[in-house]
Amino acid sequence: MICHSNQDYIYFQKKVESNAITYPNDFPIAIKRAKGSILEDVDGNVFIDFLSGGGVLALGHSNPRLSEAACKQLEYCSHALDFQTPIKKEFMEWNLKMLPKAMRNCSKIQFCGPAGADAVDAAVKLAKIYTKKSDIISFHGGFHGSTQSTLSLTGLLSTKELLPNLLPGVNFFPYSYCYRCPINLSPSTCNTNCISYLLNMLKDPNSGIKKPAAVILEVIQGEGGVIPATEKFVQELRRITQENNIVLIVDEIQSGCGRTGTWFAFENYGIIPDIITVSKAIGGGFPVAFIIYNDKLDVWQPGSHTGTFRGNQLAFAAGVEFMKYVSSTDLLAEVTSKGEYIKKELYKLKDRHPIIGDIRGMGCMLGIEIINPATKEVHSHYAKQIQDIAFKNGLIFELGGRDGSVIRFLPSLNISMDLIKKALTIIEKSFKQIECDKKQVL
Ligand SMILES: Cc1ncc(COP(=O)(O)O)c(C=O)c1O
Repeated sequence: MICHSNQDYIYFQKKVESNAITYPNDFPIAIKRAKGSILEDVDGNVFIDFLSGGGVLALGHSNPRLSEAACKQLEYCSHALDFQTPIKKEFMEWNLKMLPKAMRNCSKIQFCGPAGADAVDAAVKLAKIYTKKSDIISFHGGFHGSTQSTLSLTGLLSTKELLPNLLPGVNFFPYSYCYRCPINLSPSTCNTNCISYLLNMLKDPNSGIKKPAAVILEVIQGEGGVIPATEKFVQELRRITQENNIVLIVDEIQSGCGRTGTWFAFENYGIIPDIITVSKAIGGGFPVAFIIYNDKLDVWQPGSHTGTFRGNQLAFAAGVEFMKYVSSTDLLAEVTSKGEYIKKELYKLKDRHPIIGDIRGMGCMLGIEIINPATKEVHSHYAKQIQDIAFKNGLIFELGGRDGSVIRFLPSLNISMDLIKKALTIIEKSFKQIECDKKQVL
C-alpha cells in the first residue's frame, strides 16, 4: 500500500499493527520529520512537541551533536553484548561522575535490556537476592513499566485487570499526593504525612504484611499525574528503610537526567538511594537501560541478569555527548528557570479557569490537574478536550494521572523560550475554548 497522507498511514497502522498502540490514538499522524522541539507530519502540519518521545529526547529530536556522536560510533562498533568497549567505559565513567559525590566511589552499574522495565526488574531481583526476602512495597499511582513484573509494581489497575497471576508479594501504600490526600487529612492536620502509615505497618507485628526486600519509589510520579512527593515523605522513607534494612529503589527512568533541574530528581530531597533505575534520556535518544547501585549490594552471580542488548554502543556515544553537554553548560539551571516560568504562567491561567485544580511539578516535568469545578473531582473529559484542541492548534502533550485527568508537559530541556511562549498561548486558547463550549452547553 502506498501511503501519502496521515489518513493513509493511520489506516495502514490500524490494519497491520497491534491494537495496543497508544499515542496514535490521541494524535492520528505519521511523523515525516522531527527536529529539536518541532514535529512535522506527512500532511505538512507542524507541532510543538511537549511529549519528547515520553521524556527520552532531553535535547530534542535529532540533536546534531548527539547524532554525530552516534554516527561516528557506527564506524567502530554498533553492538558488543556486555563486552567492554572504549565508549562503554567512557559512558560508565560519565555516569559515575554525574552522581552526587557520596555515591561516586561506591556505586556499580548493571546494564539491562534496553527498556526501563528491564532495569526495574533487575533492581527488584537484586534487592530480593541481597536481602533474601520476597516482598516489595510500591505506591498508589506508581508506574514502573508494562512487563508482568513491573505491572505488578504499578498502580494503574486498568492495565492489570485482564492479567491473572502477576508477581505476588507486592503491597501498595499511600503516596504523598497532598492535593487529594490518600488518607483524607487536610494539609493543616497532616504534620506526619502518610508515610507514618507505612511506618506503623513495619512496626506492627500484626500488620499482616511481611518485612519487604525493597521499597520502589518515584520521587516525582510521572504517569501517575506529575506528583512530586513531599520532602518529609521521601526523607522519612529513607530513614525508615535504612533502619529496617530495606533496599530503597528510586525509579529515575522518567525523572532523571536533568528533567527536574538536578541530574537525578532524588537530589532535590537530600537522600541517597540504594538502587537507581536509569533509562529514557540517558541514551541521548537511543535505547539503553541500567541500574546504579551501592556496591555492598553486588551479590549478582555471573549471568544473574543477562540480555542480548545489554550494551547499545550508539546510546553510549550519544549519552556521553549528552552528559558532556550538561556538564559544560547551564542547562540544569535553565531547566529550573523554564519550569518556574511555565508554572507562573499556568498559575495565572488557573485564576481565570476554574477547571484547573492543581499545578505541580519540578523543572521541565509539569502537570495540570483538570477538575469539575462544582465537585472538585477529576475531569478526564475536559482534559481530553484540551488535549484535542491543543493538538489541532499545533501542540502535542500527554495525559496522565487518575483517569487521564492531568495534562503533562515534558518539553525538551533545551527548548527555546519562544516555543514555550507559543505553547502557552495554545494552552490558553484551548482553555478559553473549553470554557466557551461549556457556557454554550449550559
Ligand atoms: C518511572 C518509570 N519507570 C519505568 C518505566 C518503564 O520504562 P519502559 O517503557 O522503557 O519500559 C517508565 C516509562 O514511562 C517510567 O516512567
